[in-house]
Amino acid sequence: MKYYSEMTIEELKEEEEALMISYEACQAKELRLNMARGKPSSVQLDISNDMLGAVTKRNGYHSEDGLDCRNYGGTFGIPEAQRTLASIMECNPEHVIVYGNSSLNLMFDLISYAYTHGLNGNTPWGKLPEVKFLCPVPGYDRHFAVTEHFGIKMINIPMDENGPDMDMVEQYVNNDPTVKGMWCVPKFENPEGICYSDEVIRRMAGLRRAADDFRIYYDNAYAVHYLYEDDQPKILNLIDACVEAGHPDIYFEFCSTSKITYAGGGISGMTASENNLSEVRNLMSVSTIGYDKVNMLRNARYLKEGAAIPEVMMKHAAILRPKFELVVNMLEEEIGPRGIGSWVSPKGGYFVSFHAMKGCAKEIVRLAKEAGVVLTPAGAPFPYGKDPDDSVIRIAPSLPPMGELKDAMEIFMICVKLASVRKLQEELA
Ligand SMILES: Cc1ncc(COP(=O)(O)O)c(C=O)c1O
Repeated sequence: MKYYSEMTIEELKEEEEALMISYEACQAKELRLNMARGKPSSVQLDISNDMLGAVTKRNGYHSEDGLDCRNYGGTFGIPEAQRTLASIMECNPEHVIVYGNSSLNLMFDLISYAYTHGLNGNTPWGKLPEVKFLCPVPGYDRHFAVTEHFGIKMINIPMDENGPDMDMVEQYVNNDPTVKGMWCVPKFENPEGICYSDEVIRRMAGLRRAADDFRIYYDNAYAVHYLYEDDQPKILNLIDACVEAGHPDIYFEFCSTSKITYAGGGISGMTASENNLSEVRNLMSVSTIGYDKVNMLRNARYLKEGAAIPEVMMKHAAILRPKFELVVNMLEEEIGPRGIGSWVSPKGGYFVSFHAMKGCAKEIVRLAKEAGVVLTPAGAPFPYGKDPDDSVIRIAPSLPPMGELKDAMEIFMICVKLASVRKLQEELA
């Protein structure tokens, strides 16, 4: 099989005609398929159904510190839930604040607080002429939506297989006091699936920030989300690295059980230095009378305060792994030999990130939509929805059943090929 880039214009035209026949056949099937959002499938949600019976009259409604979880009180979380989240973030449970059902909500609230009140006695961001955030790309669209909401200027930071370009990060953070934050998903990053190297994490901990209120927003959403039992990459513990570097206040770390138990029905939380946590407690003392402790108790009991997480995650992996392998195998067979895209084969997380030929992503998403397959909009994994190369498409294989996923991928690959042959013809014309 020939690389498309080695074909003559006549060969490309011929290929396009053949692809159009397959494409029109797909359209005629009038399928309605979706590979857009990283939601767990209902079979995955079924794994944790026993959680619903974890808090009953028989086994009690009280947390170990004697709180009746059905009542007010315990604003910052019950000890069982602190230990559960500490097991995910590998930190001291006493340094964990348990929040509501969504870690994204906690990130939003912290940024909102920094905007209106300022962090650690610094000027509220809303009163500054300019505030910037560093955004490793491609990244999580909802992170970027939060910073965009507050009018924060977002700066793209390129990534490779080791994580963000740290030369560029150091240049900004160490010299520019308007840089107040950096988004990070250090493990099985959304959407690339990569894990930050030890060196990257050490350099992040060692940042000599120009702004006292600069923080790394370290979203460890996929800390335990392995696809393989015998291949589980570990990353350096940022907390220890920050303490070692003498910068204990430089990060906020977040996690949740959203993709461990129930998406949107889990518990979320954070860890940080005591200095940072006391500020978060100030915010929470005003913003809430306390989150849902019955749900904290339910999640903590079901997950045995973290001890059951590896077993639960392997049940998820058994469902997810064949889907990821299907996607990667199909790309390897159909796209690799034609030289019209690249991807990383992830060992965990929720996404496969496909890099099409430059200038093709929007067209692929459009073609797929017209053939009945909904994909994440091209550009979504970039600040302001703008992919400078118009190349990245995030594939979310978790939700559709295997049969639908295979149909959707077949259509996706026809669209990739079609957009690529057309692009190459344009370039040759
Ligand atoms: C990187 C990342 N962070 C956070 C979330 C959302 O987590 P939560 O349900 O705890 O708000 C997601 C969900 O897709 C995610 O990919």
